[in-house]
Amino acid sequence: MEYLRSYLESILESTNASIIVINQEGKVEAVNRETERATGYSRGEMLGKDVSDFVRLFLISEGEPTIRHYLLGLFEGREKDSFELQFRTKTGEVRHGLFNTAWVEKGGNRGRSLILVAMDITQMKALEQQVIHAEKLASLGTLAAGIAHDLNNPLTIISADAQLLKSRVGDKDMEKVNRILEGAERIRVLVRDLTTYARFDVAGKEWVDFNQLIERSLLLLHYEIRKGDFDLVLELSPDNLRVHGNMSSLEQVVVNLILNSIQAMTGRTGKILVKTCLRPDGRVEFRVEDQGAGISEENLARIFEPFFSTKKGGTGLGLSNVLRITNEHRGKVKVESKVGVGTIFIVVFPGEEDIKKSEW
Ligand SMILES: Nc1ncnc2c1ncn2[C@@H]1O[C@H](COP(=O)(O)OP(=O)(O)O)[C@@H](O)[C@H]1O
Ligand SMILES: [Mg+2]
Repeated sequence: MEYLRSYLESILESTNASIIVINQEGKVEAVNRETERATGYSRGEMLGKDVSDFVRLFLISEGEPTIRHYLLGLFEGREKDSFELQFRTKTGEVRHGLFNTAWVEKGGNRGRSLILVAMDITQMKALEQQVIHAEKLASLGTLAAGIAHDLNNPLTIISADAQLLKSRVGDKDMEKVNRILEGAERIRVLVRDLTTYARFDVAGKEWVDFNQLIERSLLLLHYEIRKGDFDLVLELSPDNLRVHGNMSSLEQVVVNLILNSIQAMTGRTGKILVKTCLRPDGRVEFRVEDQGAGISEENLARIFEPFFSTKKGGTGLGLSNVLRITNEHRGKVKVESKVGVGTIFIVVFPGEEDIKKSEW
């Protein structure tokens, strides 16, 4: 009997699921080591607590009904025996848990206990979100390709005819014709963004000198850069930065990030830092730091979504292109931002060795 007991105990202690036992009086009777690890609370802080006090340890916000609601429901037999909930750990981190529950009879007249078995599925949830996002991007890409294709022909006709009219109309109508041309130009930009968006294959990869690529991209942005009131500071690595990829796709990444920074500097002074370096692990890092408007926490969660834009006339495709292209190059994008302070975008591409290793 004693042997069995310690055997069961060691199973409970070594499992990677959190196990919490609540007795019929609604008091926490036992927790295992994983519960301590996952929540940050020690056994002493949890054992003997009344369910409602216990639950209060994990609430995300005061007055939030969920966990309490579930537990009370369980006691009254109203709830299903499996549910997902977010909870807050002692250090304030919000995690995602999957809970399974069961009632266990203690035998004799000793009543029964409620056993909660919880798995921390935070990471799984994050992956799930990434997959949903990727799928969304893919189907939008197909849709976008179709629209862009159909828009191109009528657009060419409109622009060409408007140009022709310009030489024929008098001053009175010139403004109207110019408006047509401006409108057509805006559509052209949208179609261009949609087309790059839709181009999923990174056809033709080559070794690209990333510093050179930046110099080229800056030429494309020449006009925007001159127009602004900021300083553009260039810190290019003296190392030879070789990225294996598609030249024009990579150019899109650089142009979009710098252009966004330029636009964020509208009406502000300060600097935009464009920097490259070779990381110690051989990966190539490219970063754009601005002292522009910054991005609110709420928007930060959405900036990579296709068509999300806070700009008048923005297409909202720039960053989703950046993310897609970077992913296609097995790179990573990171962003840090503070409203009123500025924004940092960091893109990292695999190094020469990483690429060669994966070839066979
Ligand atoms: N450097 C930046 N500073 C501030 N906001 C930015 C920056 N880069 C991107 N954003 C925000 O992300 C949104 C999406 O960017 P993007 O996909 O390039 O679309 P667009 O530039 O057409 O709006 C922008 O509308 C803006 O709100
Ligand atoms: Mg943009």
